Amino acid sequence: MIDLRSDTVTRPTAAMRKAMYAADVGDDVYGEDRVMNKLQDQVAGLLGKEAGLFIPSGTMSNQLAIRSQTQPGDEVICDYNAHIFNYEGGGPALLSGVQLHPLNGDHGILDPAEIRSAFRPTDHHYAQTRLIALENTHNRAGGVVYPLIMIEAVAKLARGQGILMHLDGARLMNAVIASGIDPAAYAEPFNSVSLCLSKGLGAPVGSVLVGDADLIEQAHRFRKLFGGGMRQVGSLAAAGLYALENNIERLADDHQRAKELAKTCLDLGVLENDLAWTQTNIVIMNFPKGDTAYLETKFRAEGLLVSVVNDHRIRLVTHLDFNDEQLVQTKQLLKKVLG
Ligand SMILES: Cc1ncc(COP(=O)(O)O)c(C=O)c1O
Repeated sequence: MIDLRSDTVTRPTAAMRKAMYAADVGDDVYGEDRVMNKLQDQVAGLLGKEAGLFIPSGTMSNQLAIRSQTQPGDEVICDYNAHIFNYEGGGPALLSGVQLHPLNGDHGILDPAEIRSAFRPTDHHYAQTRLIALENTHNRAGGVVYPLIMIEAVAKLARGQGILMHLDGARLMNAVIASGIDPAAYAEPFNSVSLCLSKGLGAPVGSVLVGDADLIEQAHRFRKLFGGGMRQVGSLAAAGLYALENNIERLADDHQRAKELAKTCLDLGVLENDLAWTQTNIVIMNFPKGDTAYLETKFRAEGLLVSVVNDHRIRLVTHLDFNDEQLVQTKQLLKKVLG
């Protein structure tokens, strides 16, 4: 089977497992896991922030960022297709008591003027706009890289109103590799950034939330409260450190392979947008007839696993466990099923 459902399906390589096996572990709830402390510091350093906190998942990391920076009754602005709005189980309402205010982005990119007009007046009728959450790269838009200039325009508006900024940077390193922009420059406009280690970077588990020391202290408290305090996590931290050292530059290969797949999809008339929108490791196919469930079973029968986004969109995601030989096979298979 060739599995292109997500970049989360990768398995730790032998070298990563060796690093995990060799990790010296301690009780992280006491702050005594040295490898974990090193990972948290390293990610904070990479993203130019004071402190970092390891979180079991990207979802929990986003939710902790929201919980730590809002009060019940506040409002959080995000894109209509944002992960926090679509795929996190209604967490903001349940865990933080906030309401999301989704706006219609263009391929996940929000218009600063629209954000400006979404700010609530300081009047007792309204929920108070407390946080803006952006996503880079944007998953549902198809791995689109959020232009830094657009982020900076939003941050300027937010700062002027005392509104905080969170980045769901589950795939931030894909944006870094695709754009050549420094990770810390991408993180700078944000109060908090969540980076996933378990997606393109190939670690089995974990995200790191970074921000200033006070914010991370708050998030640490809420991580405990949500039941996310973990004990001997050094082996997971070792996987994360290995991923940061070995699996960032190679994301360019995933992007190249996605581009190749996108070209085949374009030739077959099923690529959702033009090629320029396949910017990282995600390819979106579009089927106006709404037959994606049927196509998914056809692909599966031919040995390809894909992700059905909805009744007219199918997603392919390239990753560490997808090589050139499989790329050739996948292109043939797409032609066979869709040609
Ligand atoms: C953009 C984005 N944010 C957050 C997450 C959540 O990560 P996790 O699956 O680790 O909870 C995902 C997962 O695919 C994602 O694509």
